[in-house]
Amino acid sequence: MTELNKIALQILSKGKGILAADESTATMTKRLDSVKVQSNENNRLLFRQTLFSSLSMKECIGGVILYDETIRQKTSTGKTIPELINSTGSLTGIKVDTGAKVLAGSKEEKVTEGLDGLRERLKEYYKLGARFTKWRGVYSISDKYPSKLSISANAHVLARYAALVQEAGMVPIIEPEVLMDGNHSAKDCQHKTSEVLQKCYEELELNNIDLKGTILKPNMILPGTNSGEKISSEEIAELTLECLKNNVPSSVPGIAFLSGGQSEIEATANLNQINIKNNTGFVMTYSYGRALQQSALKFWSKDLKNITGTQEIFDHRAKMCTLAAQGKWSKNLENSK
Ligand code: 13P
Repeated sequence: MTELNKIALQILSKGKGILAADESTATMTKRLDSVKVQSNENNRLLFRQTLFSSLSMKECIGGVILYDETIRQKTSTGKTIPELINSTGSLTGIKVDTGAKVLAGSKEEKVTEGLDGLRERLKEYYKLGARFTKWRGVYSISDKYPSKLSISANAHVLARYAALVQEAGMVPIIEPEVLMDGNHSAKDCQHKTSEVLQKCYEELELNNIDLKGTILKPNMILPGTNSGEKISSEEIAELTLECLKNNVPSSVPGIAFLSGGQSEIEATANLNQINIKNNTGFVMTYSYGRALQQSALKFWSKDLKNITGTQEIFDHRAKMCTLAAQGKWSKNLENSK
């Protein structure tokens, strides 16, 4: 087993998942504004360090993805954030893209940037304690999109990113996110996600990526939020599994879904069904941002000093997600706080 494969499996095994706490300062400010908390360096640190010192870190969270600001911060006890995360047995990850920018040539679409200077940044992140990384490509669905250009441009940069990350001794999370927004059907989402994944793996192979040392972070297959289509968790699971089975090479050790705007319960129930029906051989777990943090953030915003109460809310969510990552979640367990 290679070192990178070991890291990937350490993050994902035994029902563990990933806490995506890598919101850029702009995104974190939106999240804090929504609960009327001032977005300053100290408050961003306080909320995040509250989560990273929760009890569930040990049992549930195999890895935490950080943003550049957070990986450099220290807690009040003088520990660095990576030291705090590592002391729970979880691994530190870092978002290394610099965001999705307008794609010249198809201006309603986006391509993710961040390759310039990446080799040097990766060396620094490794020294700061990171052992895995994230890069997110983003695609929207409409009658004309995603275009072949956006599919190809994003796959190309994702693969070049992954090559640099493996060269630096870290595991790249490959995140091609087909957005939920739109009128499209779940079938359309399955179609477009399949095209996106195929192109990503074509480019990853061209760039000689060791797939065993990667993690895929895809969207689930869902109907567009404005489509009016309602489908069950069972159907979502079937469409998602079919898509991944047909388009992801079997050497990929694990898949960690993004929540993408689903509610906490939807993201948990859908992951649970995916695991009940999992016939793919891939580990299927979570790499949630909003679906792990939303309730905790709301609770914390009412009293920034109530650390224990905030941690209890987070611990419950993390436990539910970890049960879902083993197909063991139920509504009864959800309500048995
Ligand atoms: P959500 O789970 O909130 O979609 O965030 C996951 C993520 O890391 C998006 O890049």
